[in-house]
Amino acid sequence: MSANVDLYKSSYSNYSLETYSEIRVETYGEDFGQTSWVSTEESHEIPELLRLSSSSRILEIGCGSGGYAVALAKRLGCRVVGFEIDASGVKTATALAEKEDVSDIVEFAQHDASKQLPYEDGSFDGIFSTDVMCHVPGRKEVLTNTYEMLKPGGRFVFSDALVIGGVVSNEEIATRSSIGMYFFSPPGVNEQLIKESGFTLVEARDTTESSARLSKRWHDAREKRKDALIASESNDTFLGIQRFLECVHTLTSERRLLRFLYTCEKQ
Ligand SMILES: C[S@@+](CC[C@H](N)C(=O)[O-])C[C@H]1O[C@@H](n2cnc3c(N)ncnc32)[C@H](O)[C@@H]1O
Repeated sequence: MSANVDLYKSSYSNYSLETYSEIRVETYGEDFGQTSWVSTEESHEIPELLRLSSSSRILEIGCGSGGYAVALAKRLGCRVVGFEIDASGVKTATALAEKEDVSDIVEFAQHDASKQLPYEDGSFDGIFSTDVMCHVPGRKEVLTNTYEMLKPGGRFVFSDALVIGGVVSNEEIATRSSIGMYFFSPPGVNEQLIKESGFTLVEARDTTESSARLSKRWHDAREKRKDALIASESNDTFLGIQRFLECVHTLTSERRLLRFLYTCEKQ
């Protein structure tokens, strides 16, 4: 299904514009190029949850504009591989790695997480994916492939912002899905698929509050810069993204859609 509102392409191709950077700082506090519901506290906790060290080799599934992968490599000195389905994300990520002088330890590629991936079994110490799994068909297969790509003892940390928490209307589902293909799941299904894929579930943490808070901040930061955004992304895209963000805020603040962060381990 193609997106009606192109949130990702417009965010990644306008990544380096000052207005977009200001919006990210106002939304998240720290600019990692985010287009998700990851709080800055969660971004800083990911290396700890994955138990990373400077000798780790890690994979990010759905790396967006690559800002977080680059920051991680710079901070830890570890090797990072990131892939993304959106070509403008990969282009921005590759340019960023060069600009930040980490191209020797960070690589980006364009792949679809639902397809066969070119990475060897047992080749990563840790894998993470922030708010991407809800876009990808075949969750059981993605989890199984992820399990296989990890070394024994390795961890997979991922979030799912589309766990059903209450009654949601067809109109709300349409607006919430206006930026791309989406899979909504009932509570407990991720936990079940994680176990069926061979993982031990270390933690399932409810982070719905982050989605509620960040969607409001993102919406308001964009609204303040309406004229500049309309000039770079068009009036229709601007309005579509604002409607999407309002919808996320309503659904998560009323806990009708929930976000969970899962930490899984291959034993
Ligand atoms: C909510 S954004 C998160 C991006 C980044 N992880 C972050 O935290 O800002 C979801 C990302 O998943 C990517 N994506 C969607 N479907 C995908 C797929 N099948 N394979 C790889 N990436 C995908 C989108 O293009 C988008 O960049």
